[in-house]
Amino acid sequence: MTTQKTVLIVGASRGLGLALAEEYCARGTRVVATVRSPSAELERIAARFPGSVAIVTADILDMGSVVALKRRLAGQMLDTLFVNAGICLARDSTPRDVHEADFVAMMLTNALSPMRVVELFEEQVAHNGVIAVMSSELGSIAHNRGSWELYSSSKAALNMLMTCFSRRHPGDSRVLLLVAPGWVRTEMGTANAPLSIEESIPHVVTSVEAQAGRPGLRFIDRHGKTLPW
Ligand SMILES: NC(=O)c1ccc[n+]([C@@H]2O[C@H](COP(=O)([O-])OP(=O)(O)OC[C@H]3O[C@@H](n4cnc5c(N)ncnc54)[C@H](OP(=O)(O)O)[C@@H]3O)[C@@H](O)[C@H]2O)c1
Repeated sequence: MTTQKTVLIVGASRGLGLALAEEYCARGTRVVATVRSPSAELERIAARFPGSVAIVTADILDMGSVVALKRRLAGQMLDTLFVNAGICLARDSTPRDVHEADFVAMMLTNALSPMRVVELFEEQVAHNGVIAVMSSELGSIAHNRGSWELYSSSKAALNMLMTCFSRRHPGDSRVLLLVAPGWVRTEMGTANAPLSIEESIPHVVTSVEAQAGRPGLRFIDRHGKTLPW
């Protein structure tokens, strides 16, 4: 008998997180999907896959709400934890002109808070499970092309924090992934992005699933290719 797998997707109200929820459902995985406020699109997916989606509330900037989520999910083992939530502000700014509040908000939302979610939930991730965080190609320092500077910095910081986490957990049997989905047409990605959501997320899920059983930290693109730090 095969048991149904469970994924917790943090930040699943819209965009890539919503598509992750739909893709995992379509593959028969039970999805626990977080939102900050009701998402009619996610509710439609839940209705299409009865019994497969639990919609729960969490704002990763509010540790109280993350701790409450942890309490609510107590005792449930996760096969995959996928922290997707992120923001992009002040896209064209530089350190010279950015409003400090925008930079701080990105560092908190894209770097510190996802890792706090990882720290809090990691003990609930199965020994052969996956801890994935949505990073970005723009988080690669080696591949830097000088665009979206402040957002890119927040993803580079995320990559560093995840690397530090992996160093603090030597011999961990889980897979640790920083995932770069490509530049995708979402509210954040804008209409200028070359990829549709369908051209990214199914590949992302296939690549994440393909990493199962290969412990260690990797920074991968949507096709599972290792990216330079
Ligand atoms: N689109 C791209 O081209 C691209 C490329 C590389 C990486 N990424 C990364 O992929 C992830 C998803 O991006 P997207 O394009 O789907 O962006 P999006 O359409 O703007 O969606 C962002 C998602 O993050 C959630 N979120 C934001 N702040 C949150 C918080 N404090 N707590 C909980 N959830 C929060 C949003 O929830 P609300 O609906 O409540 O705001 C929404 O579900 C992000 O980490 C982004 O950096 C995107």
